Amino acid sequence: MTDYKLLDAQLRALIENEPDALANAANFVALFYNALDDVNWLGIYVLRGEELVLGPFQGQTACVHIPIGSGVCGTAAATGETQRIPDVHAFPGHIVCDAASRSEIVVPLMFGEELVGVLDIDSPSLDRFSEADQDGVEMLCRTYCDLAGRSGDFI
Ligand code: SME
Repeated sequence: MTDYKLLDAQLRALIENEPDALANAANFVALFYNALDDVNWLGIYVLRGEELVLGPFQGQTACVHIPIGSGVCGTAAATGETQRIPDVHAFPGHIVCDAASRSEIVVPLMFGEELVGVLDIDSPSLDRFSEADQDGVEMLCRTYCDLAGRSGDFI
């Protein structure tokens, strides 16, 4: 079980004194990816106009453009709600990037009321992400957005 509280403290220490948005995004995904077991991809998609565009990530190369409303990421962006998918093959319109991925969680990244992107995490195991994981991932995303948002700049 991941210690999300410890990870939250590590994230704060890593980015609270650094104003550069791109560096903070890159360090956020590297810290998070290396702290999780049984995960094959973790990264940020950034909202650019009417689509999501690939940002800093860890894992295999991935699709660059995702329309709002498409796939798991686009659905999280369209609804503003976390998508926790136990079996990606059962999700209509799931976009395959790494064929090893079997379950996925996508959390909207919000600067206040404004959607700025999503955090996407993939696992090669079915049903990898529990409700406790969802709570932890959402907490980390809130901390990241609170701290990253200080510069008014997102990547
Ligand atoms: N599976 C995602 C696409 C992004 S990759 O998993 C990195 C989706 O359906 O939106």
